[in-house]
Amino acid sequence: MTRPNTHYADLQDSYLFRRIAQKTARFEQEHPGTHLYRMGIGDVSLPLCDAVIRALHEAVDDQAHADRFHGYMPECGAPFLRETIAAHYGSRGVSVDADEVFVSSGASDELGDILDLFDPSSSAMVIEPAYPAYVDANVMAGRPVVHVPACEEEGFLPRPCESARADVLYLCSPNNPTGAVYGKAQLQEWVDFANDCGSVILFDAAYEAFIEDEELPHSIFELEGARTCAIEICSLSKTAGFTGTRLGYTIIPRELVRCGMSLHDMWVRNRTTKTNGVSYIIQRAGAAVFTPEGQQQIREGIAVYKRNAQVLMRALGAAGIWYCGGRNAPYLWLRCAGGMGSWEFFDYLLREIQVVGTPGEGFGSCGEGYFRLSTFGDPQDTIEAARRLECLLTQR
Ligand code: MLT
Repeated sequence: MTRPNTHYADLQDSYLFRRIAQKTARFEQEHPGTHLYRMGIGDVSLPLCDAVIRALHEAVDDQAHADRFHGYMPECGAPFLRETIAAHYGSRGVSVDADEVFVSSGASDELGDILDLFDPSSSAMVIEPAYPAYVDANVMAGRPVVHVPACEEEGFLPRPCESARADVLYLCSPNNPTGAVYGKAQLQEWVDFANDCGSVILFDAAYEAFIEDEELPHSIFELEGARTCAIEICSLSKTAGFTGTRLGYTIIPRELVRCGMSLHDMWVRNRTTKTNGVSYIIQRAGAAVFTPEGQQQIREGIAVYKRNAQVLMRALGAAGIWYCGGRNAPYLWLRCAGGMGSWEFFDYLLREIQVVGTPGEGFGSCGEGYFRLSTFGDPQDTIEAARRLECLLTQR
């Protein structure tokens, strides 16, 4: 008899965003024709920018001509995109070689796949509330998870401590779901801690493009010593609207060595075995994001989401609801009104004002009592959702 991976029995019944989708679909079935205000999963609502669309069209045309056609792509990424991304880091004063950039099909895929680099017994430290895939990917692989609670009093930015010791340390800044962002000095403490312990930081930088405050780090490689202890995982999903197009990149420095083995070289070995690379067409689209025109256009898109954040922040403020995030991150993290539980609050908002958010408990047990609103929704819907939230929550 084939034995399945029994670690799956240790997972929660259903993945957070699937559970939300199921509950929402049930509500729609029971209330046909009702419009929902979707502020749950962080899926973008704006179309791809012109520079990207033009690159996609041109790349499709390339595929129609024998002399410009591309078959298999280099497994670790097309040189034109790896060089473009390395130059983008360089323009911010962070030195990264093109061959340290690995093109991926997105951060969420990569965050699971990258665990192949570590011994099956390796432990993973997750600061909660956290993006639920960190824990789930480790549970599926049967790896021990060290849960570190982040609390409101410390701005959801815990510092390294004995109980955070683990082989792999997940850090997400700007944070999903709380919107908290590590400053340089605080992040430096984690880098020093990882180097002292011989741990590896998996730095999820999917939301770096939302940072407004100039002194905050966009990349962990802005910190001294990070090249010997960190892997940075980035995505174009939120930055450039690639949630459905799928493209990300991962930086693994050459200096990242454990037990005499280079994690960079291991990842080359892994990718060349397990993937045939991201499609030429999508990589061309990705390169267009880093052109001056692409950068200007994606900044305009991000500005739209930042206006959504303002609208929601004003409404929550007017209703007297405690919240954080929204300034340097595309999520607002709020306390559920009236001391409700987070799934109870989810049901309440769906039933009363048809606003869909994400219950804090879905990000770990210490997220209970909190709720996340995404600012990636349609701007008109966001204005109406904010009006409804203010109206409903002010009454309580
Ligand atoms: C979220 O809502 O937390 C993210 O959009 C989910 C993801 O990136 O997979």
